Amino acid sequence: MTSLPISFLLTLCLLVIPSLSSDSDPLQDFCVGDLKAPPSLNGFPCKSSVSASDFFFSGLGIPLNTSNRNGVAVAPANVLTFPGLNTLGLSMNNVEFAPGGVNPPHSHPRATEAGVVIEGSVFVGFLTTNNTLFSKVIHAGEMFVVPRGLVHFQWNVGKGKARLITSFNSQLPGSAVLPSTLFGSMPEIPNAVLTKTFRTDDATVNNLKSKFAV
Ligand code: GLV
Ligand code: MN
Repeated sequence: MTSLPISFLLTLCLLVIPSLSSDSDPLQDFCVGDLKAPPSLNGFPCKSSVSASDFFFSGLGIPLNTSNRNGVAVAPANVLTFPGLNTLGLSMNNVEFAPGGVNPPHSHPRATEAGVVIEGSVFVGFLTTNNTLFSKVIHAGEMFVVPRGLVHFQWNVGKGKARLITSFNSQLPGSAVLPSTLFGSMPEIPNAVLTKTFRTDDATVNNLKSKFAV
């Protein structure tokens, strides 16, 4: 058997290692993010002095106002709202739904999502990269998972309000919300791209853009 050149093996390692990781592993017990300092390559520099309050966050229990067009509101506990999460590779959301509310199709480029229904009945779905929909109506106490980066949504199908707590294996999972990404970007995606993509006309695209303009 011929031996592989060392440069080839090194390149292979460099390609494989990042694809196995999510957020980087911490190199110390904690590193409460100093949000006033410029972000470093991957996260925030550590605050020089910390106290117990840096490790607690009460923003997931505050009732949310769901009177909006989607009937949904999200309160994130990520590194930007809870800097104690810096370098720890996880975050959570509180998601509340009015009756009939929809959390629109979106994806998290940097995280797998796991969620649990706290209240109500929710139709939860995600789509694979070959356009298969996996979905189920789940109730309080039941959990779901959305594999990393896949498009997903939730719809409150119960009679009353609904609530989820979701969690992510990233301190800042990011969220690409498809309708506003495509029709509310700044600068706009040219109509020529959207009319061809959606096999439709300028009037339809302009109508959609008018609903998502920032
Ligand atoms: C739900 O999908 C969430 O991102 O919190
Ligand atoms: Mn999500």
